[in-house]
Amino acid sequence: MKKIEEKDGKKDVELIKSALRQEMAAERRYAKHLANVNNKRVRQVLRELHEAEGKHKDALVIEMKKRVPSFEPEKNELWKLEMNPEMLEGIGDDVELIKTILNINIEKEKEALKQYKGYANETNSDELKQLFLQFGREEYEHSEHLKELNKEMNGE
Ligand SMILES: [Fe+2]
Ligand SMILES: [Fe+2]
Repeated sequence: MKKIEEKDGKKDVELIKSALRQEMAAERRYAKHLANVNNKRVRQVLRELHEAEGKHKDALVIEMKKRVPSFEPEKNELWKLEMNPEMLEGIGDDVELIKTILNINIEKEKEALKQYKGYANETNSDELKQLFLQFGREEYEHSEHLKELNKEMNGE
């Protein structure tokens, strides 16, 4: 019995690590895209999503620390400079560029939903399953939010 629990625990750590990598990539991606867009409305949405992925990341770090108390997330905050608004002023009003950025993120959010469904299926922990499913739902909301914005940009 003990062995099975240990195996489950190791698997959960790996699942959380994968989710964490995914969230860090999402956070960086939104920061980069924020750096390339000047349009206020689009920036507002990208900033909200950047923050949402940061919250997912923080929650996953807490889950990791519950299982591996010594765990520290990789600290690479250089990318934060990229979204410093003073460095970016006046670039990125091109509608085609904005639409490309929105479409990339719509696809990435759909991918994130699929990944979370996969993690939820793999874990034997009910608590973790609920967390993954909740994050999956939030990723779905992100993609819907971006789709709405894309329609707005198309004047629909
Ligand atoms: Fe996320
Ligand atoms: Fe997301």
